[in-house]
Amino acid sequence: MCAEKILVTSALPYANGPIHLGHMVEYILTDIYCRFLRLTARDCIFCCADDTHGAPIEINARKLDISPEELIARYYSEHREDFERFHISFDSYYTTNSPENKAFSDLIFTRLKERGDIYKQVIELTFCPECKRFLPDRYVKGKCPKCGAEDQYGDNCEACNSTYNTTDLILPYCAICHSSPVRKESMHYFFSLSRYSILLKDWIIKNKNIQPEIRNYVLNWIESGLKDWDISRDEPYFGFKIAGEDTKYYYVWLDAPIGYMASCEHYCREKGLSFDDYWLNPQGSVRHFIGKDIIYFHFLFWPAMLMGSGFNLPDSIFVHGFLTIKGEKMSKSRGTFITARQYLDRYPASLLRFYYALNLTRSISDLDLDGQDFKEKINGELVGNISNLAYRSMTFLAKHFNSRLTVPASSDIVNTEQDKIRSIYNHYDSCHLRNAVKEILEIGDIGNKYFQDAEPWKNIKTDRVNTWRGLSLVIQMVRDLTVCLKPAIPDLCVEMEAQLGLKDLKWQDIGSSLEGHAIGQPRPLVQRIDAFDLIS
Ligand code: MSP
Ligand code: ZN
Repeated sequence: MCAEKILVTSALPYANGPIHLGHMVEYILTDIYCRFLRLTARDCIFCCADDTHGAPIEINARKLDISPEELIARYYSEHREDFERFHISFDSYYTTNSPENKAFSDLIFTRLKERGDIYKQVIELTFCPECKRFLPDRYVKGKCPKCGAEDQYGDNCEACNSTYNTTDLILPYCAICHSSPVRKESMHYFFSLSRYSILLKDWIIKNKNIQPEIRNYVLNWIESGLKDWDISRDEPYFGFKIAGEDTKYYYVWLDAPIGYMASCEHYCREKGLSFDDYWLNPQGSVRHFIGKDIIYFHFLFWPAMLMGSGFNLPDSIFVHGFLTIKGEKMSKSRGTFITARQYLDRYPASLLRFYYALNLTRSISDLDLDGQDFKEKINGELVGNISNLAYRSMTFLAKHFNSRLTVPASSDIVNTEQDKIRSIYNHYDSCHLRNAVKEILEIGDIGNKYFQDAEPWKNIKTDRVNTWRGLSLVIQMVRDLTVCLKPAIPDLCVEMEAQLGLKDLKWQDIGSSLEGHAIGQPRPLVQRIDAFDLIS
C-alpha cells in the first residue's frame, strides 16, 4: 500500500479584516498538528487561503472607494505577514479569487447540475432601492418579529434568540443608507442538499475521526430534515459569475471550501506534485480544522458537494472551541479585541503558541485567555520548568565537563520518560494538545527533581564520574523535551537545538545516545514576563 498523502487545511480567513487572537487558536492548532506530522516523517502539506468573496467585501471596498481586488490585496499581505510572524508553516497560502478556484467552482457546479442536484426558483428578498441592491442579513435591521426588540439584524434577534428571514423584520431599514427597503423577487439557484441526507448520515456514522459531540449535532440536523441551499447571489457582488448568467454569482460559501482544492492545486502545480493524489486517489487523506461556528458548512454542504462531484471526502474535520477573554467573547467595546499584530508587537509568538497548546483539548468548549493565568503558565512552566532545566544542566556541563557528555546514568526515570513519550505521540496524533503538553511538563518536572536530588554542585567534589553521568542523563532528557516541544514552540526549539549543538532533530532522535557529543553555548531560553497587559 502507498503511504498516505495528507492534506491539512485551516478555515480560510475573510479578506475583510485583521487576523485576531481568536483566529490564531485555529492556525496555531493546525500548525502544531502539521509540524508534528512532519516531525514524525509523515507526508503532509498544509494549505490555506484568504476567503475573498461576498457582499461585505464588495460593500467595504465601495466605502473605501477602492476596488474589491485592491481591498483583498491589502489584507492578503497583512495576513501573510501575521501568519509568518506566528510561525504558521503553510506550504500554500493562496486566495479564493484565483483562476484555479474559478475552474473548480465551475466544474463542481456543472457536475452537480448535470446530476439534477441544482434547480432554479424565484424567491422574495429584501431590496434597497436607494443602494440598488438586495440586502444580506447583516445589512437589514429592524424590529424583531417575535419579541419586538429594536435594531435587530435580518437573521436573528439578540434579545430573544429567535431566527427569521430579512423579509420578516418589522419596520426594516437598510443598514448602509438607512432608507426603507422593499420586497423584490429574484431567481436563485438551489442545491438539493436534502437528496444527500442518507449518504451524509452514513458517512458521519462511519467516520471514526469525527468528535462525538459533533457527530450528535450533525445527526440531529439530518434527523430534523435538511433544507435545500441557496447558492447564488445577485449583483452587485464580488465573486465568480455563474455560467450563462449576467448578474448572478456563486454565493461565497460555495466557492470558499473549493478554495482548499484551489490552494492545493496551485501548490501541486508549482512543486510537481499531483492534485489527484490528495483528492481522487485512495491514499489521499484530507484533514480540515475549523471553528465551531462553521460546522454546518463543513459537515453538510461541503461533503455533499464532494459526493456529487466525485472527489474524496475529508478523512477528518477537527472542530475547536472559541477564544474567550476573561470568560467573555472578545469585544471591541470591552477592550478585549486583540489583533495578531497588537499581540506580536508586545510578546513573542511562542508564548501564545505555548499557552494555546496547554489549553486545547478535543472538546469544542471555549478556551479562555486570562492575563494572570497566562503570566503564571509562562513563568511557572515555560521558564520555571523547561527553560530552567535546560539552562542549569547545560551551564553545569559547560563549566565542569568542558561541554562534553558521557554515558548517561541508568535510572528508572528513563522508562517513565519513554512511556510518557509514547503517550505524547498519541495525544499529538489525536490533537489533544493539552494532554501532550502536560506530559511534556511532567517529564520536565522529573528531570528537575532528578537534578535537584543529585546535587551535582556538592557531589562533583566526591564523585565526579557519577555526577557527569547523571548530568548527561538530564541533558538527553532536555534533548527529548526539545523534540517533543518542536511542534508547539518551533522557534524556541531551534534555539534550544543550537544550544545543544544539534540540528534538525526528528521524533526518531528521541532516546538516542549523546555520549561523546559536545553541546553549544547555553543561554536562558525565555524571559519571565511581568504581566500580560493587552487586556484592559
Ligand atoms: N471565511 C470563513 C471560512 C471559510 S472556510 C472554507 C470564516 N472566516 S473567519 O475569518 O470568520 O474565521 C476563520 C476561522 O477562524 C474559522 O474556523 C473560525 O471558526 C475561526 N475563528 C474566528 N474567530 C474565532 C474565535 N474568537 N475563536 C476561535 N476561533 C475563531 O469563517
Ligand atoms: Zn440602502
